[in-house]
Amino acid sequence: MLTEIAQTDTPEATKAAINRAVLLLQAGEAVALPTETVYGLAADATNPVAVAKIFEAKERPAFDPLIVHLPQRKALPEVATIPDDLESDHARLIENFWPGPLTIVLPKTDAIPDIVTSGLPTVGVRMSDHSVFKQIARALDKPIAAPSANRFGRISPTSASAVAEELDGRIPLIVDGGACARGLESTIIRLEKARGPKPFIHILRAGPITEDDLKKFGKIVRESHNEAVEANAPEAPGMLASHYAPRTPLRLLSAPDEFVPQPGLRYALLSYRGQKKDRYLGLTDWAELLVLSPGSGKLPEAGIRFFHLLRQLDKFENIDEIIAEPVPDRGVGAAIMERLRKAAAGSGV
Ligand code: TXA
Ligand code: MG
Repeated sequence: MLTEIAQTDTPEATKAAINRAVLLLQAGEAVALPTETVYGLAADATNPVAVAKIFEAKERPAFDPLIVHLPQRKALPEVATIPDDLESDHARLIENFWPGPLTIVLPKTDAIPDIVTSGLPTVGVRMSDHSVFKQIARALDKPIAAPSANRFGRISPTSASAVAEELDGRIPLIVDGGACARGLESTIIRLEKARGPKPFIHILRAGPITEDDLKKFGKIVRESHNEAVEANAPEAPGMLASHYAPRTPLRLLSAPDEFVPQPGLRYALLSYRGQKKDRYLGLTDWAELLVLSPGSGKLPEAGIRFFHLLRQLDKFENIDEIIAEPVPDRGVGAAIMERLRKAAAGSGV
């Protein structure tokens, strides 16, 4: 299959790209679309045959459920039901964070076929804030299933060229909407009724909406594992911790002294700020050095660049090991650390 890349650099090109994407989605195809988090591989969520094409192109195992994106807030009741006792809590979150990088897990309706949720009774729902995605979703006027547009277990794409590296020849269209503004996948939460006035907010995946952003809406419960996949595939526990994996082995340090270079090996450093005072720069003669947040150490900037740099590190030849500095485990840093741990667990294969 020939994969077309549609540009959105002029109003005319954008219009043509949107029309092309909508036509293909209506025809039951899977196409790659930009979102504010990472690129998604999109299909009509109500069409099980179209959704099957997502699983096929990504080589995604059937037990890993997809996220559904709404064309507008008021479409939520079509795809999910909100429990009565949590209605106002959900309403507040939606009011504050949609459209945006927050996915909420809710009981699904019959409009969402089982293939989307891997047979689970719940569905993860969000609304993208990317202008091109929004226009496509509004024109299609249907819920869109869209996981990240990478092959299963690999590095999430934050640009159209990264999608092409993952899926070229497997899908008919990539809409190029530029580099993703957030660079990390959405925060995934689930609410649970608590005794007091505020609900528990279980964070199933850390992301751009941080614990600090969420804490005024409920009591935060950090979940370090992938609930949905674990419920579906308890027989494959080894797969759960590993994700976002570069082919080159990646080691996440917690302190500089943990690293002792072996003679003859070539190392790359993924540094947080690239500053000498952090004591990682001087540990060896790094064959490659990439910096998440050059100079200043800003976590949102590190988040935007994270997958892009991981992908770059993976392309260097003759690197024996990638060494990653930890970033502060707060704010967007918590999302980066979660992904670094998974990248370390799954790297080198
Ligand atoms: O930012 C994002 O969320 C991106 C963009 C494209 O929207 N999408 C994304 O999808 O990251 P994906 O497939 O890479 O991650 C989806 C994850 C699943 O692996 C699972 O962990 C969780 O969402 N998930 C989906 N449905 C769920 C459910 N019903 N219960 C719990 N977790 C669920
Ligand atoms: Mg993904």
